[in-house]
Amino acid sequence: MTARTVVITGASDGIGAAAARTLAAQGDEVVVVGRSREKTAAVAAGLGPDGRDAAWFTADFARLEDVRDLADLLRDRYPRIDVLANNAGGLMGPRTETVDGHELTFQVNHLAPFLLTTLLLDRLTAGRATVIQTSSVAHRLYSDFDIDDLELRGKYSSELAYGNAKLENILFTRELHRRYHDQGISAAAFHPGVVATGFSQGSKSTLRLLYRTPLKHLIRTPDQGADTLVWLASTPPDGGIEDAGEENGGWRSGGYYAKRKPAALKKGADDPALAAALWDRSSALVR
Ligand SMILES: NC(=O)c1ccc[n+]([C@@H]2O[C@H](COP(=O)([O-])OP(=O)(O)OC[C@H]3O[C@@H](n4cnc5c(N)ncnc54)[C@H](OP(=O)(O)O)[C@@H]3O)[C@@H](O)[C@H]2O)c1
Repeated sequence: MTARTVVITGASDGIGAAAARTLAAQGDEVVVVGRSREKTAAVAAGLGPDGRDAAWFTADFARLEDVRDLADLLRDRYPRIDVLANNAGGLMGPRTETVDGHELTFQVNHLAPFLLTTLLLDRLTAGRATVIQTSSVAHRLYSDFDIDDLELRGKYSSELAYGNAKLENILFTRELHRRYHDQGISAAAFHPGVVATGFSQGSKSTLRLLYRTPLKHLIRTPDQGADTLVWLASTPPDGGIEDAGEENGGWRSGGYYAKRKPAALKKGADDPALAAALWDRSSALVR
């Protein structure tokens, strides 16, 4: 049987690297996408079939041109993509704008994966793909979402920007499902837990202190953090979120999960009108 093509962004480190290793060990053809060439090449080493290197690509999501180039390279090489894990992201420092003129957290965590996914839609429908967003419980704790201030010009803190971006991951998941599930694409977002990775260590946010508290035993390893991603990537969904009845241990396209179970959403995170508006605004911003 031909191996499935599984593209993972943010695979040069942390949760994405752990997911890449597990899925490659399960027989998937993993495509390792990172920002740093050295780190990305190091993760890809030996992850391909027969111990060869897996394919790897780099792109800085703070440059939308890099995302467009990445999409072109993936399109040239893969007629069909079975899984796209939009996992790259993180918490940033003081408000910064990218070369594209967007607030950095918004661009790296939402706009860039939105662009990558929409540029790959025909490859994803060809693969009847699952598209996974690495979101976070931070969407419940820190978001204060305003569709009219996506760039956070009105108010900014790194936690607010991160919470909003992770809410956007959930809204994007729902709208991707609504628009494309009948064309074969399934979508899910998940919270990986508090995971010991490089996450937030470049910021001054108090969130990074979470990783240094006496509650260290609550902190998960990258493999544990990747578990729900691996599960979503390896298991076909049991229909979509609009279907009635219990989920019986499976997952539904359009949903949000943690520890392989449906997870609580912030009020408004399942608002279809908001999800549709975010899609339209995002499309206009990357045009
Ligand atoms: N760790 C946690 O507790 C936690 C909790 C909830 C959600 N998350 C989410 O989990 C995802 C993975 O994070 P992690 O914890 O595994 O952190 P990590 O170890 O710091 O990994 C982050 C990954 O994202 C990539 N990345 C960061 N900025 C990028 C950019 N501008 N362009 C392209 N790639 C970029 C990094 O690439 P390079 O290393 O090559 O620069 C790296 O591969 C993120 O979306 C994060 O928000 C993490």
